[in-house]
Amino acid sequence: MTLNSVACIDDLRRLAHRRVPSDFMGYYESGSYSQSTLAANLRDLAEIKIRQRVLAGAANRTQNQSFLGAKRPHPFALAPIGLSGMAYRDGEIAAARAAEKAGIPYTLSTLSICSIEDVAEAVTQPFWFQLYFMRDRGFVADLIARARKANCSALVLTVDLQVLGQRHSDVRSGLTVPPRIHPKTIGRIALKPAWIANVLMGKRKTFGNVAGRIPGTENLLSYMDWISSQFDQALSWDDVAWIRDRWPGKLIIKGIMDVEDARLAAKTGATAIVVSNHGGRQLDGAASSISMLPRIADAVGSDVEILFDGGIRTGQDVFRALALGARACLLGRAYLYGLCAAGEAGVSKAIELISNELDVTMALSGVRTLEQISRDCLET
Ligand SMILES: Cc1cc2nc3c(=O)[nH]c(=O)nc-3n(C[C@H](O)[C@H](O)[C@H](O)COP(=O)(O)O)c2cc1C
Repeated sequence: MTLNSVACIDDLRRLAHRRVPSDFMGYYESGSYSQSTLAANLRDLAEIKIRQRVLAGAANRTQNQSFLGAKRPHPFALAPIGLSGMAYRDGEIAAARAAEKAGIPYTLSTLSICSIEDVAEAVTQPFWFQLYFMRDRGFVADLIARARKANCSALVLTVDLQVLGQRHSDVRSGLTVPPRIHPKTIGRIALKPAWIANVLMGKRKTFGNVAGRIPGTENLLSYMDWISSQFDQALSWDDVAWIRDRWPGKLIIKGIMDVEDARLAAKTGATAIVVSNHGGRQLDGAASSISMLPRIADAVGSDVEILFDGGIRTGQDVFRALALGARACLLGRAYLYGLCAAGEAGVSKAIELISNELDVTMALSGVRTLEQISRDCLET
């Protein structure tokens, strides 16, 4: 299979496994613990039935959607993915370029390989910056200042990582904090020479936003140690005000899975929330994010914009989330598979696949615009 013969996101996933060492694919794909929430995200989306409508005059369809203050050609953005630059050389730049070409927002993770400045230099449109709130407040203030200087158009504050959910595959492969590299890992990496030439021979292999700023973090291993010491379990809603003082722009709070939390997030003056369980990578046993979306949308949909992620692998999934109250979706693993498979071209392929599937779904359910997508478009 080549990129040209790829028909769906699952094909990109197969190509990704061919190119990227299995230990890294384990990190990219896995959910935490028993992976029940990861499975629920996918299953609950797939179980939502879409109403087939015919002879409804569904020609001239458009996917235009306004979210976070901009009109976009598609109702989706690229989610923050830590260590994207280990999937493909300068992976964050590759994904940001693909997003820019498609006219959709790209979100750069705090834990990226390319830095805020690297990405800003490579694209012409503003991107979103995702912030992890760390203990070192000076460092967080500096990150916010850098995001402002780079003209980032929204700050995505991720609030569901106060401790790290364990992924069993990372423990087995040694991709833990701190990492344990065993000879078998090296053996498995050696099986992927194209990835070695592309990623390991590239110049960027550390956490770009941290590099050179924190003493004693000379390489990827010591960075991981530092980052693990930085999770702040004492965080509360009061701390969001601290961020608000430093970031007057659009604020998106990511990782909301509860109606009460959604109300509290709305009270902070956030522009948007992301209904998200971190792709099933944090609280194992949590509900699927799609099952929480309608309740949260009903409770706060008129106060904040509702974004959604978790398990989106098709345009049909985007349609389902929009019908249940999301204004736009974040693509996570769906575009990450493309990045692993073929860099920027792979991400563009993922965007094209999802947008084509959404278009066909709209036609077959008799709608021409995204405003026409509502709960009425689903079987109850
Ligand atoms: C490998 C990987 C790394 C991630 N890194 C981050 C991150 O750095 N910051 C963040 O807010 N979310 C992170 N996420 C969560 C995604 O932003 C998003 O919420 C999730 O991938 C959505 O689920 P899906 O992949 O099933 O679509 C990560 C997800 C994956 C799969």
